[in-house]
Amino acid sequence: MAPKYKKTKLKNALFKLQDTHQKRQRATEVRDMKEAALINSKKNQQQQQQGNNQSTAAQKAQKKAMSKLPPPPYYDYDSILLVGEANFSFAKSVALEILHRGDTITATTLDSFSNMMEKYPDSQQNVKDLEDAGATVLFEVDATKLNKIKSFKAKRFSKIVFNFPHAGAGIKDQDRNVVSNQKLMRSFFESATPFLTDTDVGDKKPGEIHVTIKTGLPYDLWNIKRLATGTGLLGIKTSFPFKPEQYPGYEHRRTIGFKEGMSQGENVEILNKNPKTFVFVKKTAKEADMEKEQETADIRKRKRAGEDVSDDDE
Ligand SMILES: C[S@@+](CC[C@H](N)C(=O)[O-])C[C@H]1O[C@@H](n2cnc3c(N)ncnc32)[C@H](O)[C@@H]1O
Repeated sequence: MAPKYKKTKLKNALFKLQDTHQKRQRATEVRDMKEAALINSKKNQQQQQQGNNQSTAAQKAQKKAMSKLPPPPYYDYDSILLVGEANFSFAKSVALEILHRGDTITATTLDSFSNMMEKYPDSQQNVKDLEDAGATVLFEVDATKLNKIKSFKAKRFSKIVFNFPHAGAGIKDQDRNVVSNQKLMRSFFESATPFLTDTDVGDKKPGEIHVTIKTGLPYDLWNIKRLATGTGLLGIKTSFPFKPEQYPGYEHRRTIGFKEGMSQGENVEILNKNPKTFVFVKKTAKEADMEKEQETADIRKRKRAGEDVSDDDE
């Protein structure tokens, strides 16, 4: 039998051995963990880089697509009336992002202030920002009765804009629904036309009415062009796709407000309906435009035929 001191020595040696082994094991674990962390971080970096590349590529593609579009048709020289705003995000985008001024903008809604607040909680900040930028914001403005607005007396606008008009009458029957929207649009055209700028009375530019609607059924059944020209007051000038991404901050809203579980944010509801903006001008302006076009075409034709087309009334 080994003496006691030898046993203790042996025990100590065993402990030391165990301790060394544990330390080595821990060191290996730590090294493995460090390696795994390094691999993960490299992987993350790669993924982030890939993501960045993808988002840069997506951004580039979007920029390229946007550059092919005509720019938003709102300019420094315009005086703009917006009707049927919901949360005032479109008006705010035109003022702050496109024109960088608000003093040329009158933005209106059919809702009362309290109705608006109830339906579109985000509208309060938009209204404040618009007013801070110098815009005029009016409530309870019926776009079919613009002559009832006292401050509009003797006023003319170079652009009158109604985005995604909808009577919002909640009519389920498609035909009756279409008729109610046609009625709204006809009355709007009649109401708005007298408030358009007119070169015949000395304004610099003929005014335009811009109406943006979704395409497809039932919207195509509204027959918006025929409705406008059918008033005998307006002619169609042009139309183009409406791209909400050209209006940063614009968030389309339904007439009934934003309903959780029913409404979709981020303009999804309009993006999948290929919306289109129709531009109407007074019939007289359209006729003058057509005359000018005809004259230019005639001159070109005569020039091609070798005729002297210089003005002989010197
Ligand atoms: C589908 S929402 C579109 C709202 C907003 N323009 C947009 O793009 O988010 C239809 C809008 O038409 C408005 N509207 C309906 N009848 C109107 C009228 N007679 N005068 C003014 N606005 C009207 C509603 O109040 C509602 O704000």
